[in-house]
Amino acid sequence: MNHPPHPVHTGNRHVPDSENVLSPDFWRRLPDDRDDVFAELRAESDPAFFSYSSVPGWPAQSGFWAITRYADIEEVCRNPRAFSSEPTVYRLEEAAPPGDEGSMLNLDDPRHTRLRRIVARAFTPRMLRTVEQDIRAIARRVTAELAERGACDFAAHVAATMPPEVICSMMGIPASGRANAVEVAELGMALTDPNCPVSLDEFMPKLVECLQLVEELVRHRREHPADDLITALGLANSDGEYLTHEEIGSFFMTLVSAGVETVRESLSNALVLLTEHPDQRELLLGDFAQWLAPAAEEVVRHCSPVAWIRRNVQQEYTLGSHTFRPGDRLILYYASGNKDETVFENPRRFDITRSSHPHLGYGGPGPHYCLGAQLARREITTMLHELYSRLPGLHATAPPLRRQVGIISSVSSLRCALD
Ligand code: HEM
Repeated sequence: MNHPPHPVHTGNRHVPDSENVLSPDFWRRLPDDRDDVFAELRAESDPAFFSYSSVPGWPAQSGFWAITRYADIEEVCRNPRAFSSEPTVYRLEEAAPPGDEGSMLNLDDPRHTRLRRIVARAFTPRMLRTVEQDIRAIARRVTAELAERGACDFAAHVAATMPPEVICSMMGIPASGRANAVEVAELGMALTDPNCPVSLDEFMPKLVECLQLVEELVRHRREHPADDLITALGLANSDGEYLTHEEIGSFFMTLVSAGVETVRESLSNALVLLTEHPDQRELLLGDFAQWLAPAAEEVVRHCSPVAWIRRNVQQEYTLGSHTFRPGDRLILYYASGNKDETVFENPRRFDITRSSHPHLGYGGPGPHYCLGAQLARREITTMLHELYSRLPGLHATAPPLRRQVGIISSVSSLRCALD
């Protein structure tokens, strides 16, 4: 694979890698240190440009503009004609990874609107009600397993379990195909990491196997419709619109990569934050009905699992005092917008009582706003309710091990205990 090019400086000012928001070194720093760097960038009058040196195939001085302020991120998201999602939004290279070129995340109108209109069938209130029963059953089972296991790695044994099961059950993927489907999506995301030990040669056969399974399911459901998502997407609606089996395969991969890691991270982040802030935890445990939903929002604001997303300038556009030209590339730092002091009072404080939560954790306002936000909210609130009502002594016993994989801020390990 092509590795992301190595960043060297912003404008004429030399910036060490530890302060370069594109650099892996930056993402290895503690969250509080990163917040300091973002605060400095937000205070500058113009967006900062981070360039690369000696990159084969890249013109000299090419690189990315860092968009760090809440209002600027919002404005970019509202203007998809000027700021395109093609060819890709979640990597620095100039192409989407194999198998993901047709993902809705990486498309503009008219292809994006058509896909989004069809796949919105997956997220109707009826579909969400159906999946809610599964979410509750999974949350109960995982909590019972945790009660029996006791002290363990929360990230592996609790947070990792629910999200892939929910998506596979929504799609109607049989139990026999689930492990491979989840592995493919995880490898696909891991391939955006320059240190990924997996090669494309190892990845491709697994991808092909997964897409073949989806294709077989689509063919079968066309003959034998069922009450699942593959049937809803693969059969024409009253306007004659439906997805081809390739598009359904691609959509499934998008759902797994967009909806697994993000929810996992949020569950782990919730445990970290509620352990570090006993006053907030007490408030939540004292009145779930009032505080569960705001707590889930505040977790996603405070530790945004999608730390950044890319946009590609299509039309000349003036943002504040800076004019972008076609061909410029931007990175929207959602993690920074969510700590913008002009929008959030005392933004680094974890506070579940914030009166309004217009955060950017699920994306900015615009056509790519997270399709699964309602589903994610139900997963997070149901799991937190189940865990803390059955096991009120649950807490983290050590700081989490974090790493940045592409756009995702991930928790790879988090020790917990129940007393
Ligand atoms: C806490 C959990 C989640 C977070 C923080 C999150 C965050 C995001 C963000 C920031 C975007 C916008 C990307 C952009 O600006 O281009 C997005 C898009 C998307 N998300 Fe989520 N997401 C979460 C959960 C989910 C779940 C559970 C699903 C589905 C199962 C899902 C499906 C999608 C899809 C399909 C898109 C693409 C929408 C489009 O391009 O039109 N997400 N998500």
